[in-house]
Amino acid sequence: MNFSNLNSIACYIVENGKGILAADESNPTCKKRFDTISVESTEKNRRDYRQLLFQAEGMLDNIGGVILFDETIRQNTNDGTPLVDLIKQKEALPGIKVDKGLAPFENSDIEKVTQGIEDLDARCAEYFKMGALFTKWRAVISIGNNLPSQGCIEENAKLLARYAKTVQKNNMVPIVEPEVLMDGSHSIEECYDATSRTLKSLFQNLEEENVDITGTILKPNMVTPGSEHQEKIGVETVAKETLRCLHECVPGNLPAITFLSGGQSETVSTEHLDAMNKIGGFPWKLSFSYGRALQAGALKAWLGKSENVDTAQSAFSHRALMNKKAALGQWSKDLEV
Ligand code: 13P
Repeated sequence: MNFSNLNSIACYIVENGKGILAADESNPTCKKRFDTISVESTEKNRRDYRQLLFQAEGMLDNIGGVILFDETIRQNTNDGTPLVDLIKQKEALPGIKVDKGLAPFENSDIEKVTQGIEDLDARCAEYFKMGALFTKWRAVISIGNNLPSQGCIEENAKLLARYAKTVQKNNMVPIVEPEVLMDGSHSIEECYDATSRTLKSLFQNLEEENVDITGTILKPNMVTPGSEHQEKIGVETVAKETLRCLHECVPGNLPAITFLSGGQSETVSTEHLDAMNKIGGFPWKLSFSYGRALQAGALKAWLGKSENVDTAQSAFSHRALMNKKAALGQWSKDLEV
């Protein structure tokens, strides 16, 4: 696949309702996921699991890009094929998580800043040689008593902008991911406020760093109440508030917005994406970059057993197709059965 510029890479990833499979769980996060199915998180088991996903039929036509972890981009299948080649065979582009996780922000117990900027340029050059065409950097923002602080928002936005600039210099598309966490009992209004402050600071910093917005992908949270919030908020409200926030903060020349699922269940995250695309009226492609919401069913079906690979692949393929339909605004509940 040959691309003439960064914009054409970004557009390819979300073409015709395609989205991104986030399979870039760090080894500790992968262990957490494997613990839920009592599978040991060894290098081989992590490889087997990722191989299962990338070989699934539903990759083709539904998944335009896969985000990998450093270990995974270097792994081969059990018959010696690089996992990167499996992804390309399914006409998806390989991407790579380049942040190095989180550290406390100014001695805070809660707020975090993302690590990994120091040697980023050299690592990007290596990943590009290995075939990566896009990258991801995740910042997290917490809602709580007087949080998020403006200082934490701005520090993370600054780092995201420096990251994006470095990645583009290395000929890859940066996914900028400022995730306002769902943890807590906050209201949807508080999430709106934190998300809009975060996105405004992000785009101001991207502009100051002269990042090419047309060669960038935004991976935001949806505007939802916290996971411990008591009142139930309807799908339509989440869709409308998320779109209102994006219209307020995101420039029209950004090609793609691919949401994270952030702890929403598989069907709820599909339903929300579909509702936004049914409303329409925005300049960006609105698609998905789900981790848990694409993998939960597959993981449960797999249980680390080779005899379960087919069932696990079917579960993943189904979610991939459902989310493609949602990215086109063509999903409905009756497709789930
Ligand atoms: P979730 O969809 O599970 O939130 O994961 C997406 C991701 O890549 C978070 O960085």
